[in-house]
Amino acid sequence: MLEIIEDIELQTPILIKLGGSVITDKEHEFKAKEETIKRLADEIAAAKVPAIIIHGAGSYGHGIAKKYGLHFGMKERTQFRMFSFLRIQMDELREIVSQALFDVGLNPFPIQPSAIFTTLNGQVFHFEDHALLQAIRMNFTPVLHGDAILDYRKGSTIISGDLLCEILAKYIGPTKCVFVTDVEGIYTKDPKTYPDAELLEHLKISDVLRLLKSGNVGESKYDDVTEGMRGKLKKILPIIDSGSEVVVINGNKDGALYNVLIGAKERGTYIYPK
Ligand code: ADP
Ligand code: IPE
Repeated sequence: MLEIIEDIELQTPILIKLGGSVITDKEHEFKAKEETIKRLADEIAAAKVPAIIIHGAGSYGHGIAKKYGLHFGMKERTQFRMFSFLRIQMDELREIVSQALFDVGLNPFPIQPSAIFTTLNGQVFHFEDHALLQAIRMNFTPVLHGDAILDYRKGSTIISGDLLCEILAKYIGPTKCVFVTDVEGIYTKDPKTYPDAELLEHLKISDVLRLLKSGNVGESKYDDVTEGMRGKLKKILPIIDSGSEVVVINGNKDGALYNVLIGAKERGTYIYPK
C-alpha cells in the first residue's frame, strides 16, 4: 500500500502568466513561437523557484472564440463543434508549453482548466482543486491556461489566463505574480499605436483605478475576447489585494523573466498595494 503524501509543507509558488502575445504568432492562426517558449522555459528553470505557469491563447483561441461567439454562450450545433475545436487547440498549445518545460528539466503537471472549472453565467461556479494542490505540494510545476469552459446557464464562456491568476492568487497567496507580455509593461497609452507613450514603472492601486477610468489601456489590434491589457489590469487589482507583488514585463526580451524571478532589477511595471 502506498503512503499517502499529503503533509508536505506547501512552498508558495510564483504565478507566471505567459501571454498569448508572446508565445503565439498573432499574425498566423495556431502558430506557436516555439523558440520563445523554449527560452522562457529555460529562464524559469534557471531561476530555480517554485512556479505555476498559466499561459494565454493568442492565435490558438481568440479568433475562433470571437468568430463563433463562444464567450457569449452556445445555442447552435456549429458552436458546439467549434467549442470542441477550440478545446483541442488549447490542449495542443498546453502540450507545447509543457514539453518545453519538461525539456529543460522541470516536472510540469499539465491541467486542463475546463476539466476543473465550470461557470454559471460567466462566474466560476465549481473549482475542483485537489489535483492542483497536491501537484503544488509535490513540487510539480502546474501548467494551466485560458480556456473555453462549460457554463451552466449560457452553455459556454471563455476564462482568461489573467482571471486564473486572480483566482489562484486569492487561493494560494503567491509572493509574486509575473505577467509576461509583448510590451515592457503598462504605458500611459498603447505603445504600439502611440510612439510617445511612456512606460509606467511604478503603480499603486489608486493609479491603476485612474488608468482604468482614463480609457488609455485597451486591447492589441488582434482579436481578443478577454479585453487585452485592460482585462489584465482589472484582474491585477484583486491580485494586489491578496498580498502579492505584481510585475508586468516583456517576454521578448532575453533574460527579463529570469531577472524578475530571482528578484534582480528589470525594466517593467511594478504594482504595489499602497
Ligand atoms: P497578453 O496576450 O500578453 O496577455 P494582450 O495582447 O492581451 O497581452 O495585451 C497586450 C497588448 O495590449 C499590447 O501588445 C498593447 O498593444 C496593448 N495595450 C493597449 N493599451 C496598452 C497600454 N496602455 N499599455 C501597454 N499595452 C497596451
Ligand atoms: C484566452 O486566454 C483563452 C481563450 C481565448 C480560449 P487569455 O486571455 O489569457 O489569452 P491571451 O494571453 O490574451 O492570448
